[in-house]
Amino acid sequence: MSIHYATATGPVNIATLKYWGKRDKDLNLPTNNSISVTLDQSDLRTLTTASCSSKFEEDQLWINGTTYPLDTPRSIQVLKDLRKLRENVEIQDDSLPKIAQFKLHIISENNFPTAAGLASSAAGFAALISAVAKLYKLPTDNSELSKIARKGSGSACRSLFGGYVAWEMGDREDGEDSKAVLIADRAHWPDMKAAILVVSDMKKDVPSTSGMQLTVQTSDLFQHRIKEVVPKRYVEMKDAILAKDFPKFAELTMKDSNSFHSVCLDSYPPIFYLNDTSKRIIKLINLLNSAAGETIAAYTFDAGPNAVIYYEQKNEKYVLGMLHQFFSHLDGWTDEKFNPASAQILTDFPLDKLEKDVYSQGVSRIILTQVGDGPVETDDVLVDLETGLPKNL
Ligand code: PMV
Repeated sequence: MSIHYATATGPVNIATLKYWGKRDKDLNLPTNNSISVTLDQSDLRTLTTASCSSKFEEDQLWINGTTYPLDTPRSIQVLKDLRKLRENVEIQDDSLPKIAQFKLHIISENNFPTAAGLASSAAGFAALISAVAKLYKLPTDNSELSKIARKGSGSACRSLFGGYVAWEMGDREDGEDSKAVLIADRAHWPDMKAAILVVSDMKKDVPSTSGMQLTVQTSDLFQHRIKEVVPKRYVEMKDAILAKDFPKFAELTMKDSNSFHSVCLDSYPPIFYLNDTSKRIIKLINLLNSAAGETIAAYTFDAGPNAVIYYEQKNEKYVLGMLHQFFSHLDGWTDEKFNPASAQILTDFPLDKLEKDVYSQGVSRIILTQVGDGPVETDDVLVDLETGLPKNL
C-alpha cells in the first residue's frame, strides 16, 4: 500500500490571561484576548503521525491505541481547511501527488495520562495540524495554522507557538484576524517553571463550551471583565513578560484566574470549577508569598480543580520546598526534577500552624515542568506502512 506520512509534536499551553466567552460558537471566536505559557514537551506532549492513502476508507484518529471518530463538526472543519490549503499547493505545483482528498489516518500518542484532565486537546490539535501541514507541504506560517487550530478548540491555537503566546481576538466576522502570535520565545525567559497539581475529582466539570455560553448569557460581571479588566491586563501582562517582571506577571496571573472563576460563579446557575483542595492550594501560595515578602509563585486554574503554579528557577528551593512538605507522597518528584536536600522552608511560613493531613489531601499527582518550545517535526513513524494502522496496537 502506498502511504504518505509525516510526524510532528504539539505542546500543552496553560493560560495566564484566560479565554472565556465566544462571540461566534461555530468559528470559536473569543470575546477577549488571552495569553498563555507553552509547557515543555519532554513532560507533556502529543506525538502525531498523519498518514494518507488512496486505500484508506475513512478519516480516523487513534490516541494511545484507542480509536476516536473524526466526525465532530470541529474536526470536520479542521480537516476541510487543511485539505483546501493542500489543493492550492497542488494547483501551484503540478509535480506534487494529488493527495488532498485521500482519507487520513491520524495516529497520536500522549506522554502524559490523558485522564488527568489536563488540556490535552490543545496539544492534540497542535500536533495534528503540524503533522498534516508537513504531510501536505503547506506554507508554515504558524499564525495561519493557528486559525485552523482555533476552529478545533479555541485555546489550541496558542499551542502552535512555544514560549509566551497571545491569542488576538480580532474583530472580523469571518475570524481571519483571530489568531495566535508570539509575545516572546522560550529563550527570552527560560527560567519560568511550572508545577501542576493534578486534583483528584471524579465530578464531571461543566464543559468549557457550555460554561462559556452560560456566562456570556447570564453574567453581568462578565461584561465588566471583557470591557474593562482584560484589555488593560492584556497590555500589562505582555509588558511584564517582555520585562521578565515575575512579581507583576504573577500578580496579574492570579488576579485573572480569580476573575475568570468569579464570572463562573456569577453565571446563573453558577458554575464551580474550584473545589476545597483548589482553595487550600490558593491559601498555601498566598502564605508562601507573604513569607517571602514578595510574589515568588502564582497559581492559576482552568475549567477544573487542577492547579498550575508558575515560579522562577531561582525560587525553586522555596516553592518546591513548601510543596514537598505537603505532597511528598505523590508520584512526580523524580531525582532529576527535585533534590530534597536543596529544599528550604522560609522562616515566616507558618508550617506548624497548618494541619498537614488536611492540606495534603485531594491531590493525585504532581508534574514538574517548565516553559517549552512549539511543535517540532520528528522522524518517528507511528503508522504501520503495511496496514495503515497504528504500529502499537
Ligand atoms: O479551548 P477550550 O474550549 O478548551 O477553553 C479553554 C478555556 C480555559 O482553559 C478555561 C482558558 C484558556 O484560555 O485556556
